[in-house]
Amino acid sequence: MDHLGEQEQAVLDMVKANPFAGQQEIATMLGLARSTVAAHIVQLIQKGYILGRGYVLPAARRAVCMGGAVLDRKYRAIETLKPGTSNPAEGFRSPGGVARNVAENLALLGTETSFVSIVGNDEPGREILRHMRERGIDVTQTQVSDSGRTAEYAAILDPSGELQMGLADMAIFDEFGPAILDRVWPHLAAATWIFVDCNLPADTIAALIARKHGARFRIAIDAVSTPKVQRLPRDLTGIDLIFMNLTEANAFLGRSGEADIDNARAAALGLQQAGATQAVVSMGPHGIAVAGSDATVVLPAVKAHPVDMTGAGDAMIAATLHRLIEGDGVIDAARIGSLLAALTTESPTSVHHALSAHFLETNLYRLDA
Ligand SMILES: Nc1ncnc2c1ncn2[C@@H]1O[C@H](COP(=O)(O)OP(=O)(O)OP(=O)(O)O)[C@@H](O)[C@H]1O
Ligand SMILES: [Mg+2]
Repeated sequence: MDHLGEQEQAVLDMVKANPFAGQQEIATMLGLARSTVAAHIVQLIQKGYILGRGYVLPAARRAVCMGGAVLDRKYRAIETLKPGTSNPAEGFRSPGGVARNVAENLALLGTETSFVSIVGNDEPGREILRHMRERGIDVTQTQVSDSGRTAEYAAILDPSGELQMGLADMAIFDEFGPAILDRVWPHLAAATWIFVDCNLPADTIAALIARKHGARFRIAIDAVSTPKVQRLPRDLTGIDLIFMNLTEANAFLGRSGEADIDNARAAALGLQQAGATQAVVSMGPHGIAVAGSDATVVLPAVKAHPVDMTGAGDAMIAATLHRLIEGDGVIDAARIGSLLAALTTESPTSVHHALSAHFLETNLYRLDA
């Protein structure tokens, strides 16, 4: 293979960092004449380092997931936990984070998916990105921080699997400010749906909603947790679809009420009144309320034999978005969402270990079981 000259290498590095960079922009950055950059690009095409230039059209239907990339660690104590001392335990680790889980589910279902997040320049970050690349997810827009650590979540479980303590190191997401939206904008603007989780800072979420005006994508958001739901703007206008569990919805709306059909329906309608076009409110085994554009329904949970609840909510979101992208209405889409959620509770991993479009299809009969 031909060796690259120093200037050629510098031009190639810039094209890799930003395939949308114009020749003048590259020339200015490198202190070269524009004609010199043009000549280097011709050479790079000749030598096979660049395939072509011009306008790259996005896939017709694409999802972008933006938010948490987390390395989850679970430790299950072998005997009753004793505080203040060392307890023998079994340890497991797996990639997690709501947006990351949603992206993985979407890709396994066959939706073209990009994942935009921030990881540290460390082994957990590389492990998460490798795992996602292997599933065909575009992670080129995920930022690598030089100063922050990849987010980690450690769960301490008792011998029966019940959570005793959770520890979350999520400081890196504070670095995901609105300026990152500028950097990745061509990717966002080309999406059919952008899914965002509330691991992102409030000003980044607000900036995305504000910039949506005139863009072709629609926005779906998940609250993640009761504290993080406060990162949403009070006025949900501009959000096409909001996902919350009932506790999060109650916290956002300042209401109370246990998990029953009337409360879930009222909460979903409340989120619509707050400005969201459509809303899905989940209540674990009690099902989900879906407030669509013309109707509000409560769908019972699909019967399951749960072994691990982790990731059920994320699977519900992913299958709902997958079906919306395929053209279903929100109520039909959410029905498939609750099916994948139930299936995911039966898998020990947070994304179902056997997931594919075919797997989902062969389980459709369980909707009527
Ligand atoms: N025991 C169960 N049987 C069948 N489906 C379930 C069960 N528990 C949860 N689900 C499904 O998972 C969906 C999401 O669960 P849940 O309401 O607990 O969300 P969440 O509290 O946001 O959970 P997560 O922590 O996963 O985000 C439910 O709406 C339901 O469809
Ligand atoms: Mg949830």
